[in-house]
Amino acid sequence: MSVLVLGSSGLVGRRLVARLAADGHPVVASDVVPPVGGELPGVVYSRADVTRLDRLISVAQEHDVTSIALLSYIMGPLMSPDHSDIPLACDVNVTGVTNVLEAARLAGVGRVVFLSTVGTYGPQRIYGDRPVAEDEILAPASMYGRMKALNESICDRYAALYGLEVVKVRPSSILGPGSTIWPSRFLERIAVGDVGLVPYAPEAGDNVIGVADLATLLTRLLTGERPRSSTYLASGHNVTMAELAGAVRQIVPDARIEFPDPDRRPSYPSTFDNSRAVTEFGWKVADLLETVRAHLDDVRAEVGLPALGGVAG
Ligand SMILES: NC(=O)c1ccc[n+]([C@@H]2O[C@H](COP(=O)([O-])OP(=O)(O)OC[C@H]3O[C@@H](n4cnc5c(N)ncnc54)[C@H](O)[C@@H]3O)[C@@H](O)[C@H]2O)c1
Repeated sequence: MSVLVLGSSGLVGRRLVARLAADGHPVVASDVVPPVGGELPGVVYSRADVTRLDRLISVAQEHDVTSIALLSYIMGPLMSPDHSDIPLACDVNVTGVTNVLEAARLAGVGRVVFLSTVGTYGPQRIYGDRPVAEDEILAPASMYGRMKALNESICDRYAALYGLEVVKVRPSSILGPGSTIWPSRFLERIAVGDVGLVPYAPEAGDNVIGVADLATLLTRLLTGERPRSSTYLASGHNVTMAELAGAVRQIVPDARIEFPDPDRRPSYPSTFDNSRAVTEFGWKVADLLETVRAHLDDVRAEVGLPALGGVAG
């Protein structure tokens, strides 16, 4: 009986593997690249490429896998309009994700938890001036968001056809070391003393969630009783970029922060309502300053720098 984490070397995977192992769950960690910082004791590492259905089936059978965290994806590169390796993105993000569902049903795995995104929603104006919750219409504007919406539809088909438990989780922007999207250009650069580049206009809103809080929610979804819903928002703090910069300055008063794209806004909503997960699981989200500080200190720890200390203010 073990939990298989696919995409275990990424931002979320690394934290989730550590969290599951610390909680005493048998974990199999699989990726196409080795884990940063080496292997954790007590965790089984087994390379698996999601484009290989045969390999996924044998890993699931060999380790008596009962649930799968499906994190493997081509995400950061795909968000650049210049990224041209569309065939690989389709192999991993469309065929690969479908292979995992197919392997789960063939190997008798009970539950798959698929990491989708808030990028499956359209811009905030579609929903009016209110936080967006799970059951709103999806209207993705990016290729990445559209691929995730297709994945969600395939997840639903597998659940309906085969009775597979498939839980779709839609995180917002995840703060933690090793991000391949904008937190790396902003917070990771601040953490090591570089100029932080804020991705959007100062007044533009986004939602941020700490990777540790996400790992807590995923652990519950992977190892607990069957969840009541098939879709959960994993969102945290609704913040403008100016508010986020203000939070950084409370921790690093002399931080150098620039807004190189003052007209840019996210293609998805700026405010979300996470009360479904909070109410059903008693899920707690750390406060914003704590979340930002954890990100900065985790990055610093990875490059051998001392922690920044307590949150001021
Ligand atoms: N980081 C965010 O802010 C964010 C926000 C919303 C949703 N998500 C989603 O959450 C999931 C995890 O995000 P992340 O930030 O940890 O991503 P990440 O890019 O850090 O990790 C993805 C992992 O997938 C692995 N991978 C790529 N191709 C593979 C293949 N063929 N077979 C097996 N593994 C393969 C990569 O090596 C990498 O370790 C992704 O599906 C992502 O789309 C992330």
